[in-house]
Amino acid sequence: MRKGLLITFEGGDGSGKSTQLSLLKEYLIQKGIKILTLREPGGVAISEKIRKIILDNKNTEMSPVTEMLLYAASRAQLVSQVIKPSLEKGITVICDRFVDSSYVYQGLARGLGIDTVKLVNDIATEYILPDITFFMDIAPELALKRRFNASIPDRLENENISFHRDVYMGYLKLTELYPERIKRINGEIGINAAFSSIKKYIDDLLCRYIK
Ligand code: TYD
Repeated sequence: MRKGLLITFEGGDGSGKSTQLSLLKEYLIQKGIKILTLREPGGVAISEKIRKIILDNKNTEMSPVTEMLLYAASRAQLVSQVIKPSLEKGITVICDRFVDSSYVYQGLARGLGIDTVKLVNDIATEYILPDITFFMDIAPELALKRRFNASIPDRLENENISFHRDVYMGYLKLTELYPERIKRINGEIGINAAFSSIKKYIDDLLCRYIK
């Protein structure tokens, strides 16, 4: 039985997910909620090793199917080792990316299809889905500009702008497919304004959850 909430952040590279995740973490801690924050791909030793293979700029020959399976393998380890046991203990887990990243990057941008990615990931996640997902909506051109100023780009970030546009369009499509779960947050209106819309959704979720 799940007792903790699973909250995820999604968006293109450089969309401001991490900043909002930190703000939400502080907000929930102040409310006395037990929190664990994680990032994907990674989060535990085995998954961090898989992350290095996936994001290594030298791995130019990696096929889209290999890429999908590696992300799913990294996720399966994180779910079984940390996410599932934490939720069962009543800990709220906030994750920087989760299964929606695979739907969008591998399913839509790489063209494997959402159905294929879902089939594989239902096994990886043991059918665990987030209670709420925040999609940080910022134009891909702006996001990339922010991202490239921050650090050296990895294999996925090195994809051309049309890939990043496909990722962006993919997220918009996903938001339409799962409107109950995925909330679109305008990422271009400033950190505080974006966080106040996140806070509204979270307060509402907590009210429903605590009842
Ligand atoms: P990371 O440096 O964590 O990016 P960010 O800070 O933007 O989250 O790198 C993760 C990269 O992997 C990012 O480009 C998105 C991609 N990705 C997928 O393609 N599929 C997935 O399932 C996940 C979790 C990430």
